[in-house]
Amino acid sequence: MCGIIAYLGKDNAVNRVTEGLKTLEYRGYDSAGLAYISKETIHTVKQVGPVDALVQKVNDLKLPKSNIALGHTRWATHGGITEQNSHPHVSDDGNIAVVHNGIIENYIQLKSDLESKGVTFKSATDTEVIPNLISQFKSENILKSVTEACKYLKGSYAFLAMSCDHPDTIVAAKNGSQPLVIGTVKDAVYISSDTPTLTSKCDKIYALEDAEFAVICPTSVKFHKFGKSIVKKPLAIMASVKPATKGIYNTFMEREIHEIPDVIEAIEREYCKRDLTKLVAKIHACDTIHIAACGTSYHAGLYIARMFERQGLRRVLVHVASELPHTNPIINPRDIAIVISQSGETADTLSAMKTFKNRGLYTIAICNVEGSSIWRYADTALPTVAGTEVAVASTKAYIAQTLVGEIVVNAIMEQPTNFVSYRKAAHEILGHSEEILKVVSENKDMNRIFFLGKGLSAITALESALKVKEITYRHCEGIAAGELKHGTLALVDSNTLSIILTPTDEAAAQKLNNSIHEVKSRGSHIWTVPPVESSLQIIYAQLFALHLAQKLSLDPDKPRNLAKSVTVE
Ligand code: M6R
Repeated sequence: MCGIIAYLGKDNAVNRVTEGLKTLEYRGYDSAGLAYISKETIHTVKQVGPVDALVQKVNDLKLPKSNIALGHTRWATHGGITEQNSHPHVSDDGNIAVVHNGIIENYIQLKSDLESKGVTFKSATDTEVIPNLISQFKSENILKSVTEACKYLKGSYAFLAMSCDHPDTIVAAKNGSQPLVIGTVKDAVYISSDTPTLTSKCDKIYALEDAEFAVICPTSVKFHKFGKSIVKKPLAIMASVKPATKGIYNTFMEREIHEIPDVIEAIEREYCKRDLTKLVAKIHACDTIHIAACGTSYHAGLYIARMFERQGLRRVLVHVASELPHTNPIINPRDIAIVISQSGETADTLSAMKTFKNRGLYTIAICNVEGSSIWRYADTALPTVAGTEVAVASTKAYIAQTLVGEIVVNAIMEQPTNFVSYRKAAHEILGHSEEILKVVSENKDMNRIFFLGKGLSAITALESALKVKEITYRHCEGIAAGELKHGTLALVDSNTLSIILTPTDEAAAQKLNNSIHEVKSRGSHIWTVPPVESSLQIIYAQLFALHLAQKLSLDPDKPRNLAKSVTVE
């Protein structure tokens, strides 16, 4: 989704910002832009399409050196994918430039008020009201202008503003679930909406929280809240995150799937040294465990819930995070909550987490990004140590999430986790890539694909279908096999591929045979995936989806319409 990067310091700010924009690309976007100040004037360069196209434009323009620049990758929400709608947006009087993530809910009213005062708008975005409002409150003190403007904004936002009257200052403002971090290094400051982009560059990183403002100069950062200055501690970030590369692979997704054995090893190293006693005691003392997450992380939640219930440990309710406000589940203060998120910034999950916290629940985050919002808000953060996941389709992070869940279950049961055999199994499945490619070649023209599972493999079926849908755009469903005859069977014909996810449980596997007969006798093609202990069976589906996307000449790393980190509700 939208990304913010800015630089203020001695170097060429435009270069630092274009480099930063490249690191934000994985989040998903459809246009990019930057603004800088030169000769007391704000200039912008914008481009629809990849950051490389923006960089080309910047190079062709041979821009003068500037020490201050704001950059943005935009994922269109309000207004089409055009240069006019790309950020940064500049006030009608040319004084203020703003990059913004989030949604200004009352922008239509604000726009019409500003228009009645003679302001002309150039875009269809909600963002453009921000620089124009700030400009209405123009004063010697840019923080004051920004805080005054914020009093009129409704919605969630994280934005940066700069003024040609203050070419050595950027003001940052935040409200709602949009992350914004400020990283300092000698004589320079970087600001980003993505913590990992700063860890390798900065000495100290500060996270802006709701209702906070920062006044950022090259050698100082001052924080304010409710009109008073505040002192903030830098984040305790354990390790700097190296920018991910494709290595020997053609796509990030391929690399990330092949990293799964290493992820299992990293998790083993991490959890060998962790003491889960306090966490286990918390779980022992609770009534119900609530899990909330979205997409793949939601499927990991279903999987973890099944593991808890299989051992008869606790009642577990799994919530689609975005549905939580609309379902009103019974929550009591003796319950605990587990939220699962790869990015740690998913707005719906963060909002579910806030609901749990407001209801007095102890919250545990299973999260891949250290220092992210979800990580910071949790009472306990359990790292998934999967390393940066760039491809939009989550692969290694899913394995890591389910494995961390299993480690918790095993800690309660006082039994070991079988890391060695899991790594072996992962390697073995990866070795079947060529066979899976053959299945793809034989079935690439099928109109629809069904994954059929039972027990734990029914959950794998849901996650498998999500993988295929998101990167191949084929109609695909994951079904608990017994449900087939209750409706979906009507769709099965000779243009259907049914992928059977054999469960490890013998009795379940026997029952699944009935479903195989049902689809076979309607002409469906069949591919049978062998049983695999643990969630690793998903690797078959991940490789299937990857190969199918490549066969169809689609880029699996950047599927249409989707973003890696979904920071709007
Ligand atoms: O970062 P999160 O785990 O919170 O993201 C949740 C979903 O947006 C994410 O899992 C999404 O479903 C994946 N792109 C699926 O591969």
